[in-house]
Amino acid sequence: MITYVDASTKARRASGVIPLHGEEGFEGMRKAGALTAKALDIITEYVEAGVPTATIDRVAYEFARDNGAVPATIFYRGYRHSLCTSLNHVVCHGIPDERPLRDGDIVNIDLTLVVDGWHGDSSRMYPVGEISRKAERLIEITYASLEAGLEMAKPGKTTGDIGAAIQAVAEAERMSVVRDFVGHGLGRLFHDEPNIMHFGTPGTGVPLKPGMIFTIEPMINLGRPHVKILSDGWTAVTRDRTLSAQCEHSIGITETGHEIFTLSPGGLFNPLAARSA
Ligand code: MF3
Ligand code: CO
Ligand code: CO
Repeated sequence: MITYVDASTKARRASGVIPLHGEEGFEGMRKAGALTAKALDIITEYVEAGVPTATIDRVAYEFARDNGAVPATIFYRGYRHSLCTSLNHVVCHGIPDERPLRDGDIVNIDLTLVVDGWHGDSSRMYPVGEISRKAERLIEITYASLEAGLEMAKPGKTTGDIGAAIQAVAEAERMSVVRDFVGHGLGRLFHDEPNIMHFGTPGTGVPLKPGMIFTIEPMINLGRPHVKILSDGWTAVTRDRTLSAQCEHSIGITETGHEIFTLSPGGLFNPLAARSA
């Protein structure tokens, strides 16, 4: 996701131009999205107690290398890893390290693979062993909020409709939507127009048009929405240290609705739901 600061420093954003992609773009995004989703599927079996997140980072790096792809985050604004691993009260941009995962952790893994210049960006929530009921509920609502956002992703709706739908699902459960990071256009660029806020007012914002390609990636907190960035310059955590969850798809708007580029080939987009299925 990107910050408002990123948004203001980007030339394309300043011009406000939202690219409309044709078949070439959709074909490129299909390949990049499919490979990213396959990598996130493979990662599922590595997410268990005792495994350091650095190991998961290496699995993604090697998968990318062996499949002719490059993780977009390596050397991105000084970031040095193939993916982000955001545990428990970490909202996003958690940095992989040697600390082992522990039973009861929940971890978001966010991966962007570049294939033939196109960016496939997706993240999921992985439970480690048995997790608490409140962690389960947070994950369920986070996925439900993305689903609600996706339902609005079609011509005739606006970016505000997407945000409002996500916000309504989270707040109905007395959870909160993080404001500081938003979804984003992508394609040959990692972060492009439009911004996709995960809160808002129906009917406001940008009208959705066929050919727009962007992510939806709500971050939902059990407590208050406020975040702070740790001294490493990346890790965003909840100020009140309550649990946070996120999931992300890359999509393209079509004439009649949308196409999801990052669907899981193994039906593992929600690992918690897949477990009980
Ligand atoms: N994949 C993230 C997103 O959804 C961005 C990660 S940027 C990083 O936009 F540098 F922190 F990796
Ligand atoms: Co993203
Ligand atoms: Co991402």
